[in-house]
Amino acid sequence: MNESQTPPKSIVLIGFMGSGKSTVGRELHQRLGYPLVDMDQVIEQRARKSIAAIFADEGEQVFRDRETSLLEELDDPTAPRRIISTGGGVIGREVNRALLRQLGYVVWLNAPMSVILDRTSKNRERPLLHTDDPAAKIAALMETRRPLYDEAAHLRVDTAGLDSKELATGILESARYFFTGHL
Ligand code: S3P
Repeated sequence: MNESQTPPKSIVLIGFMGSGKSTVGRELHQRLGYPLVDMDQVIEQRARKSIAAIFADEGEQVFRDRETSLLEELDDPTAPRRIISTGGGVIGREVNRALLRQLGYVVWLNAPMSVILDRTSKNRERPLLHTDDPAAKIAALMETRRPLYDEAAHLRVDTAGLDSKELATGILESARYFFTGHL
């Protein structure tokens, strides 16, 4: 299946850990009534363990394989429009970037480093940040990932100073133009 065969129809949120994808996803879900798919949550429910436990027991690559399989499964032309919230590293694989764009309007929530540091320091759910120097790890990951978010996204939203309601309003406004061009 490619973009010319099936028009993309969902709204897909990408961005770094702590950029607000889950919160904005819930806001869009409430406003539009489309089902919300939080990929991390689906993977955890199916594995019956936390992402941290998947990383610890099976390794990161197994988690990444599950992400790719889930994207392939979501790429179903008969499925309804959805809001899809992704994990921060989903853009790492080229196949995933292609699948994301096939699924829908891909919105990159680009949060400032200070916000990411603050939000991610509040819990220990993120195995990639279980290091002595999370700030350095975040900076390094951001450096490698920024061009990949940019490549995958139809829209980049700089989130600084905006709350989830304001972000949802902006996203819906531009999504309307995108979908009109793809009807
Ligand atoms: C990851 C981000 C996490 C989760 C996993 C790996 C990453 O999701 O998928 O811990 O590689 O950036 P969030 O972006 O929702 O924290």
